Amino acid sequence: MAEFSITVKGLSLKKNELSKADAELLTRAEKASERAYAPYSQFNVGAALRLEKGEIIIGSNQENVAYPSGLCAERVALFSASTTNPNEVVEAIAVTARSKKLLHKDPLSPCGNCRQVIAEYQNKQKRPIRLIMGGQGEEVWIFEDASALLPFGFEAEYLKGD
Ligand code: THU
Repeated sequence: MAEFSITVKGLSLKKNELSKADAELLTRAEKASERAYAPYSQFNVGAALRLEKGEIIIGSNQENVAYPSGLCAERVALFSASTTNPNEVVEAIAVTARSKKLLHKDPLSPCGNCRQVIAEYQNKQKRPIRLIMGGQGEEVWIFEDASALLPFGFEAEYLKGD
């Protein structure tokens, strides 16, 4: 028997320590959260991703009375980017949230489904996607390679024959 462990390395910094480009992306995510349709959770999430060519694409969570029919902000942004710019590299994605019920200061950490989808596009483009997580507080977390957040993820290898 052998024990093993995995270390996830991230960066914690304050909003006023962000580079201009990262601060802009997070601001766009904050603005996108205002477009959320979240009448059931009152939890407004915004995402903004930057393509290599500089374009920024946004998403917000879209809920539905049949709960699983809704979609998270990150996937709205990623699916939109993949539809409008299918061959462009996604450099970074910023996410943030604002609850109408509670004050959440901590950065928003994407759900498992969104991590899986981010990992898919990373594998497709063969380049890591930087993940910038913000919240209502001043703290921001940055991960240079979003797939670090999905250790032991399900990968295409499993589906390959012979
Ligand atoms: N949500 C997101 O948009 N992204 C996440 O990473 C976590 C959760 C949304 C889904 C739902 O509309 C609301 O937040 C509460 O779960």
